[in-house]
Amino acid sequence: MNKKIYIETYGCQQNVSDSEKIAGMASEIGYTLCEDKAEADLIVYNTCAVRENAELKVYGNIGALKGLKRAKPHLIIAVCGCMMQEANVADRIKRVYKHVDIVFGTHALHKFKDLVRQAEGEHDFIVDVEDISGEIHEGLPIKRNEGVCASVSIMYGCNNFCTYCIVPYVRGRERSRRKEDIIAEVRTAAQQGYKEIMLLGQNVNSYGKGTDVSFAKLLDEVAGVEGVERIRFMTSHPKDISEELLLVMSRHDNICKQLHLPVQCGNNRVLKTMNRGYTREKYFTLIDKAREYMPDITISTDIIVGFPGETNEEFEDTIDLLERVRYDTVFSFIYSKRAGTPAATMEDVISPEEKKENFNRLLEVQNRICAEINSTYKDKILPVLVEGESKTDADTLTGRTDGGKLVHFKGDAALIGKIVNIKITEPKTWSLMGEVYE
Ligand code: SAH
Ligand code: SF4
Ligand code: F3S
Repeated sequence: MNKKIYIETYGCQQNVSDSEKIAGMASEIGYTLCEDKAEADLIVYNTCAVRENAELKVYGNIGALKGLKRAKPHLIIAVCGCMMQEANVADRIKRVYKHVDIVFGTHALHKFKDLVRQAEGEHDFIVDVEDISGEIHEGLPIKRNEGVCASVSIMYGCNNFCTYCIVPYVRGRERSRRKEDIIAEVRTAAQQGYKEIMLLGQNVNSYGKGTDVSFAKLLDEVAGVEGVERIRFMTSHPKDISEELLLVMSRHDNICKQLHLPVQCGNNRVLKTMNRGYTREKYFTLIDKAREYMPDITISTDIIVGFPGETNEEFEDTIDLLERVRYDTVFSFIYSKRAGTPAATMEDVISPEEKKENFNRLLEVQNRICAEINSTYKDKILPVLVEGESKTDADTLTGRTDGGKLVHFKGDAALIGKIVNIKITEPKTWSLMGEVYE
């Protein structure tokens, strides 16, 4: 029988990458991917726990599957990912969402086939959310998403314990894959035709800690793999980015001149209570150094607005930081309380309304800066890796510059997967419009 699996992925690239392994394992037991949950014999929700609204969405969507399960009793519903490693979540699902068959956490990913086989027979609620972090399971099959970019995890977990963040609790301790395994995976992806490799980790700069292979060394080797036209990586933690890394980046044409360097906020007292391990001054020095090595580098960041105890005055330091650094992109979030983290017991000094106002101000400032930066791209001719057809308009193609900027232009689908020169005709705040330059 041709069985179908539908996978919905929430959260970060790490989860997207895990879902590709789920798809790979599923295909080994006879499931092919489908796009419509109504057609599926197996539905998997791969969840994120980083903010409350991500979780509420998941609960809503699990609830909505009840009718489907009633109409199709053989349907298997599995919920997995970061949320499942939180205390009480598995219990709540068991109690409230009786149509769910399997719950498994990030540490049980490699057992997916067994869990599904178990659910295919007579079964009770199946749960595997043990916290046994520390292991790495190599050799899981991967069914990569179509396209030109392949993500490759280089490490798992996080040891930083920023006081607001749940990731170290749900993903376990930091552990790095062996360099040889990573290189082999990159080589395979390149042979399969993927042009761009995204190296993934919560804090790539601490890759290989305690061994003689640093992240810079790894990156240097990945850049040498035949067929790899572009390499990006995320996330770099500002507290341990090395000069060696900047040097390696600047030396290889195929390492994109792009850095995602989450700062979280611009005030030293708040940075300290966040346990980030750097000051704004140290961060500015880093930015200067990166720009010294690579004058055209694009830089993006993450910002949390309304961390407990942050005053309106302290928030001004974040605005000031944005004006000084002038990021190409900012991902901003209103602080969300995560049970079990140190910040969850810290007190607010401003109201939710004030937080929202600060958040909107930040967006306004950053939108202006983005538009200003993008306007300098007018008439530039840039190499763009063509990623695919635009979602809204079939004869428009989309791609990215080396710096990661989204470009739209008219062109033939035969260009997909190629790097073509595009002349920017009309910069916008979030993207650049252009035309093929011959
Ligand atoms: N490892 C990465 C970040 C992973 S989480 C790093 O250290 O940069 C992605 C982003 O989510 C974080 O950078 C942070 O800005 C945001 N985030 C994490 N926990 C949050 C919380 N409790 N509330 C709001 N935003 C949060
Ligand atoms: Fe979370 Fe901090 Fe680890 Fe990033 S470095 S995953 S923000 S604890
Ligand atoms: Fe979310 Fe887990 Fe990523 S909590 S941000 S999916 S590591």
